Amino acid sequence: MEKESAKLLLREYITTNSLINHSHMVAIAMQAYAQKQEKDEKSIHDWWLCGLLHDIDWEAYPDQHPNYAVEYIFPKVEVTDEIKHAILAHAPEQTGIIAESEMDCYLFACDELSGFIHAVSLLRPTGYEGMKVKSVTKKLKTPNFAANISRDDVYKGVELIGTNLADHILFLIDVFQKAKEKNLIR
Ligand SMILES: [Fe+2]
Ligand SMILES: [Fe+2]
Repeated sequence: MEKESAKLLLREYITTNSLINHSHMVAIAMQAYAQKQEKDEKSIHDWWLCGLLHDIDWEAYPDQHPNYAVEYIFPKVEVTDEIKHAILAHAPEQTGIIAESEMDCYLFACDELSGFIHAVSLLRPTGYEGMKVKSVTKKLKTPNFAANISRDDVYKGVELIGTNLADHILFLIDVFQKAKEKNLIR
């Protein structure tokens, strides 16, 4: 599935800009990790697509997310089984599918933390620019801040991709800073 048609598909199901932005953030994070691992062009695209579509049914079918997407939306478009599995595995409580593949693990690891870093960026006049790892980890320890973001999932994600929290945050800040400069995200 081409990038432009994927973006149009996303717009068919999501009207809120914040969720569109979140989808793009996770797509860009996934793409950056695929590039970091020197994957081939096709895989880099698939990682991006996986991130872009992971919450496509969240707004319209929150109670069936992400099962609805896999059952009713993806069969209509070209989405690989690998991507479907990763999207199911980002919500194990809803699907019973746990993260196994690399793509599964990275999607899980990028999802909540991207949302969290975005929340931190909103507090800063310069957004992602100049954001320090420490200000993110400090906020993670503040339960009232972005309380809807599961800290357990953030820590579990870091474990799944076999890195440490600081490196993962640093990588994502850098990715989002560059994406923001190019106006790809807010
Ligand atoms: Fe989700
Ligand atoms: Fe998400």
